[in-house]
Amino acid sequence: MSEHHSTQSGPVGPSRREFLLAAGLLGVTAAASTALVGCSDSNEFAAPLQEFPQGFTWGVGTSAYQIEGAYNVAGRKPSVWDTFCRIPGKVLGDATGDVACDHYNLYPSDVALIAALGVKHYRLSIAWPRIIPGGRGKVNEQGVDFYKRLLDELEAHGITAHATLFHWDTPQALQDKYRGWESREIAGDFADYCTATVDRLGDRVKHWYTTNEIRSFVHTAYTYPGGPFDGAPPFAPGIELASEQAFWQTSHNALLAQGMGVQAVRASASRGSTVTLVEDSVTYVPLTETAEDIEATAKAFRSMSPNGGIIVPILTGEYDPIFLENLGASAPKIRAGDMEIISTPIDGFGFNTYSASYVRAAENNIGAEELPFPEGYPTYQSSWLKFAPDTVYWGVRMFTESLGRDDLKIVVTESGASQPDAIDADGEVMDTGRVMYLRETLKSAHRAIEEGYPLEGFFVWSFMDNFEWANGYVERFGITYVDFDTQKRTPKESYDWFGEVVAQNRVL
Ligand code: NOJ
Repeated sequence: MSEHHSTQSGPVGPSRREFLLAAGLLGVTAAASTALVGCSDSNEFAAPLQEFPQGFTWGVGTSAYQIEGAYNVAGRKPSVWDTFCRIPGKVLGDATGDVACDHYNLYPSDVALIAALGVKHYRLSIAWPRIIPGGRGKVNEQGVDFYKRLLDELEAHGITAHATLFHWDTPQALQDKYRGWESREIAGDFADYCTATVDRLGDRVKHWYTTNEIRSFVHTAYTYPGGPFDGAPPFAPGIELASEQAFWQTSHNALLAQGMGVQAVRASASRGSTVTLVEDSVTYVPLTETAEDIEATAKAFRSMSPNGGIIVPILTGEYDPIFLENLGASAPKIRAGDMEIISTPIDGFGFNTYSASYVRAAENNIGAEELPFPEGYPTYQSSWLKFAPDTVYWGVRMFTESLGRDDLKIVVTESGASQPDAIDADGEVMDTGRVMYLRETLKSAHRAIEEGYPLEGFFVWSFMDNFEWANGYVERFGITYVDFDTQKRTPKESYDWFGEVVAQNRVL
C-alpha cells in the first residue's frame, strides 16, 4: 500500500482501527464480538461487529478482455468484441480493448497490488481467442503460456485463482462460421475449449466457472423486432434476430454450452476442483417485508423474465412454467436430453449482484408486480445501477426459498459500483460513494449469513478500472484507479477500506 493509503491519523486523533486496537477490541472471538454489539453505552466508539465466518472467501475480480490488452499478440485472434469496438459509435469514445490496462504485460505488479490488499482469492477470466484463436481446432500454446505465467505469479503470492472460462469474448471465427450463439454448434466448441484449457491449466486452477452472465452476452447482445434496445443491442455482436423465438433459441444454446462446459470441466479437472457458472440473476426486493410481498418476491424471482428462462432451467431442470406460458409461441424448442445437459449438477453458484427491482404482491399470473424507479432514485454512474443494497440478502435467500436449492453454496462473484473517479490534489481518490455502496451491501450479505443462508464468499468488482464494455473507459468500477494514458495504478480509498474489511473479517 502506498503511504497516503495507510490508515490516517493526524489532527483528529487516532483512527478507529488504532482506537480499537488500543482498546483491545480487535481480534476478539465471534462469540465475544456478538456480545459487544450494542455496547455503545459503555464505549461510544465501539462499532457493531458484523463479523463474517472464519474462512469466508474475500476476493476481487476482473475479466480478460476488460484488462489484458495485447489483442494481437502471441497468436491471439479477434473476438466479437474486437470487431464490435471497431464499428463507429458502438462504444463510448470509440474505445477498444486493444490495450485496456495492459495487464498482459503488467501482471506482475498487478498481482503484487492484489496481494497487498490482503485478499487470498482472485477471479480472472481466460480468453477463448487466446487459447483457441480459431474458436475450434488448434490450441495456441503461446496463449496458454500467458495464463501459466499469471497463475504462477498468483500462486507465488499465496493467491487462489478462480477462473471463468468465458467472459463474453466469443472468437470472431465462430461468429463468421455459424453466427456464434445463434447456432447449437457452439455448445460443442465451447466444451472442447473448456477441455483444452482445463487439461493445460487444471494443475494451477481448482475453482472453475463456465459462462459469465448469459443475461449479458445473449440478452444484452441480441434483440428481436419489438424487443428491447430498439434494434441495436449495446453488447457485441449487437444483432437483431428475426423473432423473439430465435432470441430464446439463442439463449437456449448458451444454456446448453454452460451444461456441456460443466461436464467437460468435470471430466478434465483435478480431484477436489469445483465447477459452476456465474450469473447476474435478477434480484427482487420486497417493497415491504410482509408475508405477502415476500411471497411475491419469491414468485417474481422464479417466474419473471429472464430468471425463469436462465437460472430456473439450470438449477431445476425445467424452464419455469409460468415464464413459458407468458412466452407463448416464442418459447425455445427443446430437444430430448437438452434439459439433462442444461441442469448438469454444479458446485455452488456464482452470483453477480449489483442492482435490484422492488416488487409487491399483485393479481396477475405471476402474483407479483415490478415497480418502476422514480426519477431521482439513487443511481451510480451506470444508469442501470440503482442503489439497492438489500439485493444480496434477498438474492441469496431466494435460491433457497424460491428455487428450493438450499444445498447450493453461494459466492458473490461480483458486486461493486461505478463512479467518475479522479485523483485529487492530495493524490488520493476519495471514492466514498463506492465505500458506502460496499458497506451497505456487506451488511446485507451479513444478514443472509446470520439468518443461516449459505453465502460463502464475496468478490468485489473490480480490482481495477477497466474497459467497461459499451461504456468504454468512462465508467469506473475499480477499487484501484487506472490512468489509461500512463497505466499508473493508484489504490482508491475503497481499496484501503476493503483491505481493512478483509483484515478484520467484518463490516467496517
Ligand atoms: C458484470 C460483468 O460481468 C462485468 O464484466 C462488468 O464490468 C460489470 N458487470 C459491471 O458492468
